[in-house]
Amino acid sequence: MAILAELQPVMHDFLQRGLVISPWLAGVNENRRFDEEVFFLIDKAAQEYTETAWTEELQSRVFQDLPAMPRLPRTAFYEICASTAVWLAHGEMGQTDATVELAARAIATVQQFCRDYDLGTLVQLYGLSTQYENHQAVAYYGQMPERIFALGHWHRPWVDYSLSDELAFGILVGNYLVREVDGQSMVTLSAKGMKTFRETEQFLTETGYLAHRVRQLHLSRFSLLPNFEELATAILPDWIPQRREFCVWTGVEPGMKVLELGCGDGLFTFESGLADRVGPSGRLVATDPANEMLAKAMAKGQKRAADWVEFVRSPAERLPFPDGAFDAVVGVSFLHFTDLPRALAEMRRVVKPGGIAATFYPLPMSLSAPFIQEWFAPLLKLAAQDRRERPDDFLITAAEMAQAWKQADFGHMQFRSVTSRTLYWDPEMLNQLFLAVGWGQEELARIPWKAREDVLAQVADRGVDVCRRYPKEERIVGFPMQMLKATPV
Ligand SMILES: C[S@@+](CC[C@H](N)C(=O)[O-])C[C@H]1O[C@@H](n2cnc3c(N)ncnc32)[C@H](O)[C@@H]1O
Repeated sequence: MAILAELQPVMHDFLQRGLVISPWLAGVNENRRFDEEVFFLIDKAAQEYTETAWTEELQSRVFQDLPAMPRLPRTAFYEICASTAVWLAHGEMGQTDATVELAARAIATVQQFCRDYDLGTLVQLYGLSTQYENHQAVAYYGQMPERIFALGHWHRPWVDYSLSDELAFGILVGNYLVREVDGQSMVTLSAKGMKTFRETEQFLTETGYLAHRVRQLHLSRFSLLPNFEELATAILPDWIPQRREFCVWTGVEPGMKVLELGCGDGLFTFESGLADRVGPSGRLVATDPANEMLAKAMAKGQKRAADWVEFVRSPAERLPFPDGAFDAVVGVSFLHFTDLPRALAEMRRVVKPGGIAATFYPLPMSLSAPFIQEWFAPLLKLAAQDRRERPDDFLITAAEMAQAWKQADFGHMQFRSVTSRTLYWDPEMLNQLFLAVGWGQEELARIPWKAREDVLAQVADRGVDVCRRYPKEERIVGFPMQMLKATPV
């Protein structure tokens, strides 16, 4: 479709500016989307901006001869500001709540986009993404009761308005059919609707929108995890001993100026010996984008009176340090959360010539154990439907990692492989950890909201059942991990 071709570069630019259209990021599970002050700020901005910027001319360009949806411009503006603010909170602060300051930044970014393009273009991008959600849900379920569609129960439960005008619009343009089945009005996709769905899906894939949406799911799930350290140490008994080994292997020496990236709640920093190794004659700067994680690490630092350790909130992709500021840059199990080339370019920039850069990271693990096949069958099935061999676990293979480091101008690379035991003993803990940091995000992002929740619930139930049937000793799996160290070339 010509309009999609025109919008391709615009969607790219939209994403480049850090804008997102993902209202589900705003904590539906907690029954509240925002702090009242944040809501008021965004809602007021949406009302004021769209009142003046939405013109007759834009209306006829966006809706052509079809009946307009009067609510759409304001909703589009509101939802994009709101999801962008929440995404900033997840990405920059590792928390689920947007603050007034982040909301103001999101509003300013949306207004700038509207000045550079126009409000009509913003509405078109929003319309494409919501149409995708609607079509995806009807295609997935085959048919949806009209009432459920209008209330958004299965696919957009966060809406606080009816979707009946979107449904009426879809019927009018011939995308949906409504027919009576057993006395109930059911919505189905017409052949034209299916074609539109595929075209929209292709557009959203090619512009990187869907890949970005997967990253949003991944980070937002991780930000919702309150007890990472407790889970990790119970499930992965080798974590601390192996991190200690890695700490020595990096070549970090007492007295060095060291930067740690993705420090989380400080498991590598303190329990695994990095701070002790650097010692009071050196300086350790530990960073992480997640506020809550960083607060826990800071508390550990205070308890130990480790005044040579400093904490700075920062994502690896944008480090607030000058070039060549550190003798060594290290970090454990964090690169798979980052935009890898950008994070590596920053690591390369802040390490001094001849300095050390090192990471210890998990590799994709085998899923062949029968109990794993049973436990995670719903996710494996989704992957198979998507013609993938296995659910995406977000992990980076050893070959991809080596290639990325090489491209970032690192050389003299050395590797060391270890296997970390994973104890599949407590199903509740396992589900919390793996579904938060790990598997299936790609698959889950491609099904409607309710189906996602259903799959996660099925996996959780299966875990309980599998743990009852398989003996404990059979539920230990080796997780492959790799240490990598290099120097800038
Ligand atoms: C699995 S935890 C690892 C924590 C710690 N390094 C350890 O080994 O125990 C991953 C950490 O990466 C952080 N993270 C997420 N996105 C990041 C980014 N863009 N840059 C740096 N760290 C990031 C998360 O906040 C989290 O604390």
